[in-house]
Amino acid sequence: MHLGLDLGTSSLKALLIDDDQQLVAEASAPLSVSRPHPGWSEQDPADWIAAAETVLDKLAADGRLSGLASIGLSGHMHGATVMDSGDEVLRPCILWNDTRSHAQAAAMDSEPAWRATTGNIVFPGFTAPKLAWMREHEPDLFAKAAKVLLPKDYLRLWLTGEHAAEMSDAAGTAWLDTGARDWSEELLSRTGLTRDHMPRLVEGSEVSGRLRAKLAERWGAPGGVVVAGGGGDNAASAIGAGVVADGTAFLSLGTSGVLLVANDGYRPAPDTAVHTFCHSLPGTWHQMGVILAASDALEWLGKLTGDAPATLTGDLGDLQAPGRTLFLPYLGGERTPHNDASVRGAFLGLEHATDRPAATRAVMEGVAFAFRDSRDALAATGTKLERALALGGGARSQYWLSCLATALQIPLDVPQSGDFGAAFGAARLGLMAATGAGPEIAATPPIARTVEPDPSLAGAFDEGHARYREAYGAVRGF
Ligand code: XUL
Repeated sequence: MHLGLDLGTSSLKALLIDDDQQLVAEASAPLSVSRPHPGWSEQDPADWIAAAETVLDKLAADGRLSGLASIGLSGHMHGATVMDSGDEVLRPCILWNDTRSHAQAAAMDSEPAWRATTGNIVFPGFTAPKLAWMREHEPDLFAKAAKVLLPKDYLRLWLTGEHAAEMSDAAGTAWLDTGARDWSEELLSRTGLTRDHMPRLVEGSEVSGRLRAKLAERWGAPGGVVVAGGGGDNAASAIGAGVVADGTAFLSLGTSGVLLVANDGYRPAPDTAVHTFCHSLPGTWHQMGVILAASDALEWLGKLTGDAPATLTGDLGDLQAPGRTLFLPYLGGERTPHNDASVRGAFLGLEHATDRPAATRAVMEGVAFAFRDSRDALAATGTKLERALALGGGARSQYWLSCLATALQIPLDVPQSGDFGAAFGAARLGLMAATGAGPEIAATPPIARTVEPDPSLAGAFDEGHARYREAYGAVRGF
């Protein structure tokens, strides 16, 4: 039995599979984000542990964990979980979509060593600039910092007692030499840190530690349960969706939006806002475009209108050409392609006729155009997409899928019902670590249907995207 744990932004999810990768049980617990100031986004690591206890206590009922062999971890990336020498957390974790450190990020990014070593722009959401922000604004806390862990690696510390990280998430810190798959002592020293502040590195499919005896006893699990390296949520999702072979891709409509392509070599493009990270299997990497608010944009509209997102998207009918109302989904700034922490979202072209369905379509179109920007950014590095798997909660909307397929001009493959996301990928990485199995067990899920682009609307979506690009120019700096 293998357990995948995915620490998401809005919930922690656990999924139990057997040796044949069949689903045995699943459980989840909600999490919330606190936004104490504009541009800030934080979570209390104690809430992650509480959520993990809730889901594991639930799963352990009826002795279900008595045959547990491994645990794989996945989680939202880039968060700075900063601890003192006694492993006490010093402040709330600063999350991936927090842009407070934009000035520090820009200063670091202007020094060529960062892009040359990490293969990426130093984005404000990455971990290193957050520590630079702490050094400037919370010097007393910074002085006490003894270890910096990524969010899922804090769960690992609780589960195993080990300070360990794996390559895919480590690549999102801006301290990793992404080609060499090792910490860069040079970059750490530029942030006032050393290798000692960082966890030990393993590959995602390797053993990082063993479940502590006290927890194994609590959940009726055997001794020596393996905890695998796992992956950042995007790399773990790729393993879950079988996106491992060079050129295979997924589009994820989660809180963030991600267009990810697997690579068999290291192909950095640090002059663009494309992210180039290690994949969770040795000797592999991936590229991705990241938009900060995807399903989050629809959640935002739902909060405004008092509707659940499923109600908003429920009765939109067949795909229509983009309307006159245009939505820019930059609710918390944008990463790909703009690397702009200060731009904010906008509705443009509102008119008397803009009713709830029209506003909903505009939000979905805006997110689809943001994905198209990521497609174009990937294409500019020489990576051309032929098709992609559609993942994430937003992919339950047929309208949104048609809109995306038409905006991107590629077919989108929708997996059969079931969960082939990050928790499943984490469980697969656990299975690999426990049994020595290789990438062959990360098969592509059975496809339920393929959503094709609508050629009759291609021109209208081209025009809509051109307006969207122009609108960014008009609102940036506003
Ligand atoms: C990736 C990113 C997000 C988070 C949250 O760079 O910031 O996708 O991992 O899911």
